[in-house]
Amino acid sequence: MSPVSSPVSTRLPVFPWDKLEPCKRTAVAHPDGIVDLSVGTPVDPVPELVQRALTSAADSPGYPTVWGTVELRDALTGWGGRRLGATGLTHHHVLPVVGSKELVAWLPTQLGLGPGDRVAYPRLAYPTYEVGARLAGAEPVVYDDPTELDPAGLKLLWLNSPSNPTGRVLTQDELTRAVGWAREHGILLVSDECYLELGWEADPVSVLHPEVCGGSYEGIVAVHSLSKRSNLAGYRAAFLLGDSAVLGELLQIRKHGGMITPAPVQAATVAALGDDSHVTEQRARYASRRAALRAALESHGFRIEHSEASLYLWATRDEPCWDTVAHLAALGILVAPGDFYGEAGARHIRVAFTATDERVEAAVKRLG
Ligand SMILES: Cc1ncc(COP(=O)(O)O)c(C=O)c1O
Repeated sequence: MSPVSSPVSTRLPVFPWDKLEPCKRTAVAHPDGIVDLSVGTPVDPVPELVQRALTSAADSPGYPTVWGTVELRDALTGWGGRRLGATGLTHHHVLPVVGSKELVAWLPTQLGLGPGDRVAYPRLAYPTYEVGARLAGAEPVVYDDPTELDPAGLKLLWLNSPSNPTGRVLTQDELTRAVGWAREHGILLVSDECYLELGWEADPVSVLHPEVCGGSYEGIVAVHSLSKRSNLAGYRAAFLLGDSAVLGELLQIRKHGGMITPAPVQAATVAALGDDSHVTEQRARYASRRAALRAALESHGFRIEHSEASLYLWATRDEPCWDTVAHLAALGILVAPGDFYGEAGARHIRVAFTATDERVEAAVKRLG
């Protein structure tokens, strides 16, 4: 008999990336090698000043705190004010997390949600929102317009703007309506804004902007990550800003659970949030890769939808997504099938532009 009598993993969907393996093998066999545009993982260097901050803090023998150093909390409130336009942020409105994925996956559990509670997220979404609901034993619910959800039993409402996978950006008006609706029904609204600094044809607004939240953080939390804006996916650096009561509760839980950002990563985060020039440089790299891939996909017969922000092009040839994935894999290009993000994506693919210039050029040539 298995020592794990009722494995939690049986509550979870099949890890979707395993399904892509056969196509990956096809793409790898291309004589000029694979162009992997399937995962949004950064490939450019960690900015020098961030590396220096990390190594300067390498001698960190003691336990760091979950709440972070005073310098880190100052950096988080300062960045939230400067970059998001959030007003009146104090240390009680911030909480570092160990990359945002762990937070997304464990937030419902850490909030004490369980059977009988519901967790809502967009119909097309990053799969970890559903995983988080299922890990807690709560019911996952999808929406097209959050204000049309049945509020009964709904405890957590996820927004994600800019969106993974579609790159869609919610307007200030859509955000304001969602915040108003969630507050009216006493539902915690958590806005995943990890692509906020990667707007191309839109200027994404945070839920913490005073024109959205009215200058109060009651019932709202924003999730931010340094993985994309600062090429720090390998460092696991992310944080929450918002409702002090919610963050205070999470701080207690996470202290007991030992969910601590390592001290060198805390120091690196301070350096990264204090510098905008590396973000501008990285944006320029992505902008040119995005333009090249977009033009090549369109001339190859694709239609690009949404995609006004984030690191992805949401594309379709009006055929089942796995046919498109197989077609591109034969050209040595690996992309993510839209159905990884929900059934509504069954005729789309997600193309990440997180590949080197050399690989993007190779993809453009193969699509030509
Ligand atoms: C919407 C969204 N949220 C959260 C994450 C997790 O990012 P990280 O754990 O690197 O902070 C991702 C990663 O791709 C994402 O697309």
